[in-house]
Amino acid sequence: MTELIQLEPIDTQIAEAGYCFVEGWAHMLGGLASTWQSLAESWNRLPRDNFMPDGGAYRRRRFGRFAFFPDRSQLIRLGHSTFTQSTEINTFAGGIERNFDPLEENTFVHPLLHALVRSDFLRFGIDDCELMAKPREVKVHQIRIEATNGNPETPTPEGIHSDGHEFIAIHLINRENLSGGKSIICDIEGHVLETGLLTQPLDSIYINDRKVMHGVSPVKRIVENAPARRDVLLIDFDIAKLRRLESELNKALRVESADAVLHLDGRRRANGLGAPRFRLSEDRCQQIVPLLPRKCRQGSDG
Ligand SMILES: [Fe+2]
Repeated sequence: MTELIQLEPIDTQIAEAGYCFVEGWAHMLGGLASTWQSLAESWNRLPRDNFMPDGGAYRRRRFGRFAFFPDRSQLIRLGHSTFTQSTEINTFAGGIERNFDPLEENTFVHPLLHALVRSDFLRFGIDDCELMAKPREVKVHQIRIEATNGNPETPTPEGIHSDGHEFIAIHLINRENLSGGKSIICDIEGHVLETGLLTQPLDSIYINDRKVMHGVSPVKRIVENAPARRDVLLIDFDIAKLRRLESELNKALRVESADAVLHLDGRRRANGLGAPRFRLSEDRCQQIVPLLPRKCRQGSDG
């Protein structure tokens, strides 16, 4: 398994404040630096988001899902599904069953994407071993916002919002020929806590989606008739519903091997019943806990 080089730990701001801006660390990709270009270039092949209630043609995206097992740092691709948010969570596109195009095959298996998922999870400041060990459903969104001459476009047309997840990692991949696009973090009542501009590859925001809300200000093309884009990778984490996850994983494994049957508690369940168990051993917990983030960038770019 290829890993990112050990990131400088960030402090407990995520755990305490619910979010953390982290300056671009693309220079810290270590052995994965040579893979950056192929991942970033996949944003050039995103199809249009055809589920924009305002009819806008300014957003492109792809979507994929994984199961993530923190105790063994294992990431398993899940089958394609639609993406639906409630109308309470998403006042713009909530209630719409959005069938985005899936990630490309090369993206699903991209070592840098896998390393980011693993690394991101360690940065959320979870200090409870049992909670940390729970399998997660991970949703990956590749998104491009394009601006045209004279028309500001809004990366988050729903305004300041929550996404309805446990944690979110927002990574800037690239931005080109744009003004605006400032990231805004608000408390749950909507008071602005901090704003920051993601400008460099892998400038990132880590968010506890239950503690704070987020949004992005409109973007405007600077030089007319030249490409103007903001490429972002969103990685959502949620505690997995074990029954559903187990069923999905077994289905996926059966494709590869007729003999492979996975049970999340490590045992075959008599008659398929019984509470799923997934526990992190104490020694493994000791290996993970020191990796929790401790130090975080303070302040913002504006
Ligand atoms: Fe969002």
